Amino acid sequence: MRILVTGGAGFIGSQYVRSILSADPAASITVFDKLTYSGVEANLAPVANHPGYTFVRGDICDVDAVDQVMAGHDAVVHFAAESHVDRSIAGAGPFVMTNVVGTQVLLDAARKHGVGRFLHVSTDEVYGSITEGSWTEDWPLAPNSPYSSSKAGSDLLALAYHRTHGMDVVVTRCSNNYGPYQFPEKVIPLFTTNLIDGKRVPLYGDGGNIRDWLHVSDHCRGIDLALRKGRSGQVYNIGGGVELTNKELTGLLLDAAGAGWDMVDHVQDRKGHDLRYSLDITKIREELGYEPQVTFEEGLASTIAWYRENRAWWEPLKVKAAQES
Ligand SMILES: NC(=O)c1ccc[n+]([C@@H]2O[C@H](COP(=O)([O-])OP(=O)(O)OC[C@H]3O[C@@H](n4cnc5c(N)ncnc54)[C@H](O)[C@@H]3O)[C@@H](O)[C@H]2O)c1
Repeated sequence: MRILVTGGAGFIGSQYVRSILSADPAASITVFDKLTYSGVEANLAPVANHPGYTFVRGDICDVDAVDQVMAGHDAVVHFAAESHVDRSIAGAGPFVMTNVVGTQVLLDAARKHGVGRFLHVSTDEVYGSITEGSWTEDWPLAPNSPYSSSKAGSDLLALAYHRTHGMDVVVTRCSNNYGPYQFPEKVIPLFTTNLIDGKRVPLYGDGGNIRDWLHVSDHCRGIDLALRKGRSGQVYNIGGGVELTNKELTGLLLDAAGAGWDMVDHVQDRKGHDLRYSLDITKIREELGYEPQVTFEEGLASTIAWYRENRAWWEPLKVKAAQES
């Protein structure tokens, strides 16, 4: 199967590409990525010599470039997106363009070229916020941020192409990911790298917001299962079942760094901050035999160790982000 992976130089996409290529000498993957601020081609260095690996730099909104790269592929795994909620609050334009329009361009090209399966990587944030219980896949979408609204738009477009055109589409909706190679603007790498440097960390509001955490390798295993065995036209939630308040998470990161609460700045809450995300993963567990494998304890420890050992990866990204802000 020749797979086109969009956004394959980002945090989750690069984990997916590394895991597939390192496990299978016969695998074939084309990465199509614009290399925005969060895309780093070096994330793919460990598999760059794999005979089945090709990298193409391009924008998913560029109809001609997408048309060219799509030809000859059997499946698409679509990660490319603007992914940071805070940036979507500062300016929604790139989110609507890449997440909604870019997805439409890809769907049209996949249809034109008769590509088999189109796996759209969505997020649990499309469901909004839930006070009690957990979302199943048939829960209505009620996104609150410009980021999650643009992801809901793309998620619904993908499903509409299945219903309208009979395309072979599968959508996955995943909870918060953590792990190596995550851009140091997201909470775990931001707090970890700040604390490594003896800097303070900014905690939103009272820190009571609850997130479900999943190691990035478990997310990618779920995506690959859905790609190969999921039923066409279906949505699969992928979650970790580890719910923590941001305050509890901060406590764990402070402990790991040997730092105290005096290192925390309580900053004004994010606008429209969703209180709680919680996913029911019964469907993927029962239909596809999915189970997360990395415990949060092991995953967090190995992630923190990775940031300690890979300053050369994150320091230039932080310096550049600070210069641009
Ligand atoms: N990070 C999470 O916790 C999480 C959870 C659930 C779902 N997701 C989804 O997973 C996907 C990947 O997220 P991530 O955390 O790896 O994001 P990321 O920001 O690390 O990576 C995004 C990648 O997409 C590329 N890209 C952006 N705009 C592009 C464009 N117009 N054309 C081509 N490439 C473009 C970037 O260069 C980058 O390589 C996204 O669709 C996101 O919504 C993320």
